[in-house]
Amino acid sequence: MADFEALKQESRVFQPPAEFVRNANISGMETYQAMCAEAERDYEGFWAKLARETLEWHKPFTKTLNESDAPFYRWFEDGQLNVSYNCLDRNLQNGNADKVAIIFEADDGGSTNVTYRQLHQKVCQFANALKSMGIKRGDRVVIYMPMTVEGVVAMQACARIGATHSVVFGGFSAKSLQERIIDAGAVAVVTADEQSRGGKHLPLKAIVDEALEMGGCEGVKNVVVYQRTHAQVKMVPGRDRTMSDVVAGQPDTCEPEWVDAEHPLFILYTSGSTGKPKGVQHASGGYLLWAALTMKWTFDIKPTDVFWCTADIGWVTGHSYVAYGPLAVGGTQIVFEGIPTYPNAGRFWDMIQKHKATIFYTAPTAIRSLIKAADADPATHPSKYDLSSLRLLGSVGEPINPEAWMWYYRNVGGERCPIVDTFWQTETGGHMITPLPGATPLVPGSCTLPLPGIMAAIVDETGHDLPNGQGGILVVKRPWPSMIRTIWNDPERFKKSYFPPELGGTLYLAGDGSVRNKDTGYFTITGRIDDVLNVSGHRLGTMEIESALVANPLVAEAAVVGRPDDTTGEAICAFVVLKRSRPTGEEAKQIARDLRDWVGKEIGPIAKPKEIRFGDNLPKTRSGKIMRRLLRVLAKGEDITQDVSTLENPAILDQLKQAQ
Ligand code: PRX
Repeated sequence: MADFEALKQESRVFQPPAEFVRNANISGMETYQAMCAEAERDYEGFWAKLARETLEWHKPFTKTLNESDAPFYRWFEDGQLNVSYNCLDRNLQNGNADKVAIIFEADDGGSTNVTYRQLHQKVCQFANALKSMGIKRGDRVVIYMPMTVEGVVAMQACARIGATHSVVFGGFSAKSLQERIIDAGAVAVVTADEQSRGGKHLPLKAIVDEALEMGGCEGVKNVVVYQRTHAQVKMVPGRDRTMSDVVAGQPDTCEPEWVDAEHPLFILYTSGSTGKPKGVQHASGGYLLWAALTMKWTFDIKPTDVFWCTADIGWVTGHSYVAYGPLAVGGTQIVFEGIPTYPNAGRFWDMIQKHKATIFYTAPTAIRSLIKAADADPATHPSKYDLSSLRLLGSVGEPINPEAWMWYYRNVGGERCPIVDTFWQTETGGHMITPLPGATPLVPGSCTLPLPGIMAAIVDETGHDLPNGQGGILVVKRPWPSMIRTIWNDPERFKKSYFPPELGGTLYLAGDGSVRNKDTGYFTITGRIDDVLNVSGHRLGTMEIESALVANPLVAEAAVVGRPDDTTGEAICAFVVLKRSRPTGEEAKQIARDLRDWVGKEIGPIAKPKEIRFGDNLPKTRSGKIMRRLLRVLAKGEDITQDVSTLENPAILDQLKQAQ
């Protein structure tokens, strides 16, 4: 919910607290500006120095950036390293062995600590188990796990042996899982019997079985099941084994597989403007560099911090700021299995108090829903908890509206914690535009300025720079180490989607609109410029949902648009034409419910439309193109004021205006 009008008038500025300016890893605007200037002056030198300082290389690189096959950029390509070694072994050597790496809090409130030494052992044992199954460097492993230590272990173990993981969020349906398994060409799936969320047990293994039975997944030879709830699940002999079985007797050390910096660390599927999700491929060296550096720069992480990122490992935020970044810098972090509203909406605040979290990173949707909950039940208001341990707050995944920002700042941060509003994407690997807590004056609702080395700009449809104050297309002008390398199995789509010829072919197209403040140059993200929706910080393609709807035997045609929503940012609104006559009244309600469930099964519950309206037809131009622009206006409940004379069937607008 960009709340763009409010932002235009936003004049509140919050200076970085003196304490931060004194101690921050990047202290003061002059330091920030000097770093930006250094990157401008010697781009490759800037990155090479950081890569040498931040990571431990098994074989040092001599080449920093290879642009010869642009836009397939290669970073540090003759260097070799291992991501898991950098996250774990390094910490055993530098005195962190007995430091807590993960404070795990279960859905039911129980918590356990895992030290770096213990995490290293677990990862090594599981890595050895994967190897014993014949899984090797370059193989793809799908991970369909709850938020648990074992989820992180599975990811790190893949990294240790050079297998490329593809984590699929536990809320995706069997069909979505099957599509990802096939596209990635996975040889194994790591899952759990069930996940425990909000006091409910939800099946995971049964969904894996269903996905594998749908066909096309014959490459999957092994399924490993972490027994989270010890529920009875079907185990297919010869294919399925429990995690405790496979690690039993495995040595607790495992020589890391040294891989080239460009070796694919993971593939993560995300939605684009066309129907099929894209497998965003990330490289080992550049990705880890940025995950670690942004922990230091944006989160100003220090050895004594207790860092908590609430994102699930199924999303990129859970990759960079749960599975990799915090470990790469030797941090202590909280991993939380549950949901913010169980057993009540005070859960986050209770956990911050209990574990003395110092840095807290969550999504605007969560904040907005907790504001509502605190209004309804004052006992869950943050003021009822001791949140004095906090020193820094973060926001991610969608624009944060100034009201939510102010509430977060006052009630959670006690007006002493800066908020880093981090703009980035699955494709960017880590933060791109964000305040630095010890440098950047904050303006509610603005992600402020690009990090040093990130050449973000705003251009028009032909790729030409726009002056501050003029809204346009957000691009990045130079490649950066943690950028997407390609779309798995589809390099042509990679080129077309991210380096479109219309913009000249060299600018990275983020897919968002943005505007810079006339005076400060601060960026504000105005929302996606393509057919991608952001619902509760989850990215969904309208075409993906449309394809799911038309796959239903009742549906002839469907068009999906987003409309602003107070809590979820955007809500999904579907306009549907059935093969039979248009339903009304109770019948329409029933069919709408069935279709919502259908989408839940096709994609996952996160993709269920909030509203479905039925029509005899959809508004189309004479050439048959659906006018989504008009549907967006109708979905918002507004009157259509634009000229509709080019429409084939203007009368249909009246019919679709009414919510059923
Ligand atoms: O539209 C932007 C929005 O989320 C999109 C990226 O989604 P995804 O790849 O799922 O990654 C989410 C977590 C990084 C962007 O194209 N977005 C993300 N962060 C912000 C944001 N919009 C505004 N402000 C943000 N801080």
